[in-house]
Amino acid sequence: MGTDILVVGTGEYVTGFVHGAAANSDKSAGVIALVLFDLRSRGKVHQISLCGRDGKRFAGIRRHFNEKIASRYKGIDVSANTFPDAHDYNPQAYKTAIEKMKPGSGVIVVTPDDTHFEIAMTAIRQGMHVLVVKPLVKTLEEHQKLIEAGKQKNVLVAIEMHKRFDPMYSDARDRARSYGDFSYMSSYMSQPRSQLNTFGKWAGQGSDISYYLNSHHIDLLEWMIGARARPIQVTALAATGVAKTEFGIETEDTITLTVQWENIESGNLGIAIHTASWIAPKSDVHSQQRFFYMGHNGELQIDQAHRGYTTATVSGGYASINPLFMKYEPCDGKFAGQGAYGYQSIERFTDAVASINQRKAEPKDFDNTLATAARTLQTTAILEAGCLSLNSGSLPVEINYSAGQSLRPEIIILTAQDLNKAVALT
Ligand SMILES: NC(=O)c1ccc[n+]([C@@H]2O[C@H](COP(=O)([O-])OP(=O)(O)OC[C@H]3O[C@@H](n4cnc5c(N)ncnc54)[C@H](O)[C@@H]3O)[C@@H](O)[C@H]2O)c1
Repeated sequence: MGTDILVVGTGEYVTGFVHGAAANSDKSAGVIALVLFDLRSRGKVHQISLCGRDGKRFAGIRRHFNEKIASRYKGIDVSANTFPDAHDYNPQAYKTAIEKMKPGSGVIVVTPDDTHFEIAMTAIRQGMHVLVVKPLVKTLEEHQKLIEAGKQKNVLVAIEMHKRFDPMYSDARDRARSYGDFSYMSSYMSQPRSQLNTFGKWAGQGSDISYYLNSHHIDLLEWMIGARARPIQVTALAATGVAKTEFGIETEDTITLTVQWENIESGNLGIAIHTASWIAPKSDVHSQQRFFYMGHNGELQIDQAHRGYTTATVSGGYASINPLFMKYEPCDGKFAGQGAYGYQSIERFTDAVASINQRKAEPKDFDNTLATAARTLQTTAILEAGCLSLNSGSLPVEINYSAGQSLRPEIIILTAQDLNKAVALT
């Protein structure tokens, strides 16, 4: 029998239903709920529960599921238990929803970034295996607490980093290992500015575009580099104007993090520059996403948005398409996206939970195959250091380790010298 799964959050990434209508994005049928419905039809998932804050939204979500999923793909059942009740508004409903799950079930957290910690911690304490969409949490301290709680309860705590299952990104990770010391990476990722309507409730307050998008390529770099190097300092810069003037949102339009890395054995230094923006114009893709990597003995680059596959239709015009992430196009009336990396990312979690529950594996066995909390501390340290740098007039922030060659960041700090400069500037 499959695993019971509770999803907390019912927004764009789960349902594709935003502000009472299908999202105006590349995910109008959503990702997580659709994948879970298909996994249930394959016997890998048993009960599916969805928890939001506003029970009144579920009538619209059910209509949306019927239109975008049930009527499009033969044999997919879109039923789910829902929390809170139909007429209730309750931001704490996730607590009741988690209490109703059997220990050992899976909880997938897909709410705004600043709510991940509380919800994930509640689920872990109740003995659930947890998958949190990126970014796991906003601070190193919260990340360390989740690792500790996961160890105490012996449950899996992982991040949904779907790019790790992209065949090109995972090949790049393996190839880069033979390119010697890490020297340089630059990554760019963007969303069209229309997404600021979707994310208006939390953009700039609960999180920013660096946490939202830079998290992808920072995780990729940490995964590529493994134990060979570690980040030691971060400086951030922002561009502003469009979010404020066009959308009335006090947030950065674009954020660049510059990260100093240190190769462990040689002591050689490397640089990573990660830029994320949510003011992109409408173009041939929903999201631009690309990176360049250079080691001492080789380089790599991938334009993930342009796979050499384009289309043009009378209604939609010209577009570059990427069915490798989510393949929504049915095949002979059935959902056929099981091989896509957005799907694989959820399936691997449900498979891991099943094998832990069948006592065939331990949570730590997945440290090499999933983005587990235990192996992603550097990503959170970089994101938090970037945020601190931005809030401190772009001063550098150090990532400190307790031991000479440790890979586990302990704390991030503005150095005393920098603090003096900050005081002098004010
Ligand atoms: N949209 C994407 O393509 C995408 C992809 C990967 C990861 N993510 C991540 O998913 C998370 C959510 O993003 P989204 O795009 O779905 O945003 P969204 O704004 O569309 O949805 C957020 C949802 O969370 C719900 N929510 C907020 N507080 C809650 C609570 N206390 N209990 C239950 N539900 C609550 C809101 O009601 C809303 O439905 C973010 O962390 C984001 O980084 C999004």
